[in-house]
Formats: sequence, structure tokens, C-alpha cells
Amino acid sequence: KPYVIGLDLGGTNSVFGIVDSRGEIKATTAIKTQGYGNNVQAYVDAAVEALQIIIDQVGGISKIKAMGIGAPNGNYYNGTIEFAPNLEWGRDGVVPLAKLFSDKLGIPVALTNDANAAAIGEMTYGVARGMKNFIVITLGTGVGSGIVVNGQLVYGCDGFAGELGHVIVKENGRDCGCGRKGCLETYCSATGVARSAREFLANSDEPSLLRELDPEKITSYDVSMAAAKGDKIALDIYEFTGRLLGESCANFAAFSSPEAFIFFGGLTKAGALIMDPIKKAYDENVLNIFKGKAKFLVSALEGSSAAVLGASAVGWDIQK
Ligand code: BGC
Ligand code: NA
Ligand code: ZN
Repeated sequence: KPYVIGLDLGGTNSVFGIVDSRGEIKATTAIKTQGYGNNVQAYVDAAVEALQIIIDQVGGISKIKAMGIGAPNGNYYNGTIEFAPNLEWGRDGVVPLAKLFSDKLGIPVALTNDANAAAIGEMTYGVARGMKNFIVITLGTGVGSGIVVNGQLVYGCDGFAGELGHVIVKENGRDCGCGRKGCLETYCSATGVARSAREFLANSDEPSLLRELDPEKITSYDVSMAAAKGDKIALDIYEFTGRLLGESCANFAAFSSPEAFIFFGGLTKAGALIMDPIKKAYDENVLNIFKGKAKFLVSALEGSSAAVLGASAVGWDIQK
């Protein structure tokens, strides 16, 4: 049986899956994305070493037809990662990642943006099956998006379309890794939530469980734990984060009138705490003609499966 490799390359972890033609993940492995400094070849070498073990489990490289990669700031047209502020080896230039993997593995490799891969995964195997117009928003180390219009992923003139994490939501707002200020990502990514925690704690005297933690080390997970216990500051942070997302979605609706917004990533585990303010702010801000039309959904694919499956679908597309 033929297989393809799907890689979900995140700012923190890189998750690999060997996937069959029906979208069943046969084997997985993972490595840390960080720790290789500026040396992308060292990252590729470590990845292939980990991959070798699961490739052998399915019968060797002759069974693998292609590889698909979903990566932040990935460019589908060129197979490159360009100027990725959240990746150590992607910060100062163009990284030909598809070619590096292809040279090392001896198979064809395609690459797309990580959130685009998640959108393809949702469309092929997840909650977007049968939908022709939807927007996936990934809430992880960064905020990403995959925009599907009339059944097709939007790539634009250069392959970079769909960078909705970098729409500016506050004038002169927080510094963003992209070099600008006030991007959605600086507020609504996991790291943005941790930044909000530090800001909210510094700007109020409200007692909070979060005050027991070293402010520099607070994570979005800590905020979710505190919120689950009813902590006022943590709940305010979710309200704030959700509202910004909902207002942003109201703007995105005007671009492409999606039938659904699909949220993806760790922050969605907060459930209604984040989804309710998103929906409320959306309703309050969306243009009348769009009101009440879009569904707000959470990815039902386990962990990073949508991204791995989406990446693998890009791999199936190019296999000969
Ligand atoms: C990048 C996107 C990516 C997103 C999620 C953003 O900072 O610009 O390309 O999809 O993070 O990883
Ligand atoms: Na995208
Ligand atoms: Zn930005």
C-alpha cells in the first residue's frame, strides 16, 4: 500500500504522520522545532532520523510516494518558508524546506502554510466536509488562517494569501514578530494570552490565582486552569481575547462570506469561555446582511491531526 508523509511544522513542535490514501494515520513521530539555531539542515537531519523509524514500520521508503508540509509562513508556489519570525531558522531569509526534505528523502515534497494545511485537513476529513466557503483560524504560537472560497484555498498572486493573524486590531498596539504593531496574533495566540495575563495583572489590584506564578513564566495553560476555577482576571482575559477574535471575524465575513469559522488549536479547549465572547462580538459587529449566517465551530480532529492530514493531502496531490 502507498503512503505519504504529512508534517505539521509548528513554532514549538514538529509532528509527522504516515498517512494512507483514505486519510488514516498509520504511524506518527515528533521532534522539537527549536534547538537548531540558524541551522535548518540540522533540523532536517534530526527530522529524517526520527522519520526513518516510522518509515521502516510501514515497509521502507519505497512505500512512501510523497511528503506534504504545513509550515508557518510557508509558500505553496515555491516550497519555501519566507521570513518566519516564530522559527529560529526562518527569521532572516528564504528557507527552501521542500527541497531540503526532497533531497534527503528522495521523494517529491510539497509545502503550504500550516493554517492552509489545517483548512485542507478540515475540508477533506474534518468539520468542513462538504463546505465550499469557510475560514479556519489557528490559535497556537501564532495566529494563522486558511481561507476557502468557492471550494478552493485562496493563495493569491504570490502564494501568501490568508495571513489573517497579521491584521492590525489595535493602533500602536503590541509589538509583533512581523515587525509591526497591534496584529491580531499579538493578542489572540497562546503567547498573546500570556502577554494579556501579565498586562492585566500589572494593571489591576484584583486578587488572582495567577499572582502566585512568576509573571514571566505564565502560559495560556495557566490562564485556562485559573479560568476553570472562576478566577476573575483569567475570565476577563478570555472575554478580551474572544471579543477581539469575534470583531475580527466580523471583518473577515465581509471579504468572503464564509458559512463557517472553524477554530483550531490549544486555546479552543476553553470551550464556551472563548467561543461565547467570539460569537457575541461577531453578532454585535458584523454587517447586517451577514448576521446569523456563519457557524462557529471547533475542529473535531484530535490534536494536530487536521494539520498533519492536510499536509498529507497536499502530498497526495503531487504524487505521481
Ligand atoms: C504566520 C502564519 C502562520 C501562523 C500560525 C503566523 O505568525 O505568519 O504564516 O500560519 O503564524 O503558525
Ligand atoms: Na494561511
Ligand atoms: Zn504581525
